[in-house]
Amino acid sequence: MLVRWVVRSPSDRLLDPACGDGRFLAAHFNAAGVDRDASAVSAVAQDIPHATVHTADFFDWANATGERFDCVAGNPPFIRYQRFKGEVRKTALQLCERFGAKLTGLTSSWAPFVIVSASLLTPGGRLAFVVPAEIGHAPYAQPVIRFLLDNFSGVHVVAIREKVFPDLSEDIWFVYASGFGKSSGSLGFSSYNSFRDVPEPLSSGERIDRSDLQSWNYRLRPFLLPRAIRDLYVQLSHLEGVFRLGDCARVGIGYVTGANDFFHLRPSEARRLGIPDEFLTPALRRSAFLPQRAVTHRTVENWLKRDEPVLLLNIPAGASLPTQVRRYLDSSAGQKARTAYKCRARSPWYSVPDVRVPDAFLSYMSGLGPSLVANDAHCVCTNSVHAVHLTNSISTTELLHRWPHLLVALSCELEGHPLGGGMLKLEPREASHVVLPASNLGMSESRHELLEEGIVILRRWRHYA
Ligand SMILES: C[S@@+](CC[C@H](N)C(=O)[O-])C[C@H]1O[C@@H](n2cnc3c(N)ncnc32)[C@H](O)[C@@H]1O
Repeated sequence: MLVRWVVRSPSDRLLDPACGDGRFLAAHFNAAGVDRDASAVSAVAQDIPHATVHTADFFDWANATGERFDCVAGNPPFIRYQRFKGEVRKTALQLCERFGAKLTGLTSSWAPFVIVSASLLTPGGRLAFVVPAEIGHAPYAQPVIRFLLDNFSGVHVVAIREKVFPDLSEDIWFVYASGFGKSSGSLGFSSYNSFRDVPEPLSSGERIDRSDLQSWNYRLRPFLLPRAIRDLYVQLSHLEGVFRLGDCARVGIGYVTGANDFFHLRPSEARRLGIPDEFLTPALRRSAFLPQRAVTHRTVENWLKRDEPVLLLNIPAGASLPTQVRRYLDSSAGQKARTAYKCRARSPWYSVPDVRVPDAFLSYMSGLGPSLVANDAHCVCTNSVHAVHLTNSISTTELLHRWPHLLVALSCELEGHPLGGGMLKLEPREASHVVLPASNLGMSESRHELLEEGIVILRRWRHYA
């Protein structure tokens, strides 16, 4: 399908920059492929004799080749930034920068494959790629979308709800761009339930103006919703008294110990070791421990009664250490803990940084939607939940009062992103954008229904049944 989208004539020269077993090359006679896997390349050379194939890292090859192509199609590798590193990433990002796209270190490998492939096109050239659905929300995808709009006269993204590759955790979408050498003021976007529904040629879908894209920070997920729902969301977000969570609170991750088992003691252990109370702070360690509305003194008493390992060994830097604490730090568990990466990287290794008492906790990985829970017990929290610190006049009570609203639920779906397996993830930056309705926000039945419909649609797109 992608080869059909990009090839206009039998003489068109086609490139697949990561050709693997060569199935894109097999679909067109005048084709060239690159792959760094020598065994894949020799199999292609044997099975698809009409194709020219090169064994090379694509970015090195692209840097050196003088060849240009009429079209590009492929399924580039999706290697997350944690594993996409070293020389390959350096060359890839440098080439992207040369072509005007500044990608950050958090970029997954497919993004430079798209940009560097585009740079090998002749004027008027076309490209079509399989891309992860992350193109619809990841911050690193924004410069890719901007690059495509700046360098092609037509850009289209196709979202597919059902899994195209059922064995992969990753949802995939498609990107198609034509008219290399010109720019475009809008992006075509269409969404389909399944791969089988995608029409040909690409004529359908919505045209999204660049200014509209900009107002959504180049995130495409909102465009999975019918316009009426999107418009209602924008309208409600701008009403008087409505604000974003980031306007009244700082949302951040909880503390990171580097060795959770060592730093969190059960009450029975703390007693046995004789650790003084002043070095022990009750901590929320799992979002599953969150009650519905508030973590109260009673909640903490229950944790302690159940002898849960919830007492953080909280030693301020510079504190003088009693013998019992020193003995625990020097125990074999302590010897092991201090070798953990996070502990080695700080001084002293036993002082956990950023231990603060938040006003509320926010779960950031959820099925139905994130919960916001007051911290009446003045606990601290690990990075298993987000810590919410109020920054101006709103009280925790008022914040909690605003939270259980359909507008908040839709906002979490829109500002957060799917994580696979039906889960919704809300990064601190995304949580800051969540819209909080005014407490007196009246809602007609039809508006109510639209918001509900939007929530159902976005949950379906993240495979939450
Ligand atoms: C997802 S597969 C695509 C294979 C084929 N196009 C398909 O759809 O079946 C990605 C291919 O990228 C290749 N690859 C990964 N990094 C590469 C790089 N830096 N340069 C060239 N090829 C690379 C891998 O060897 C693998 O064959």
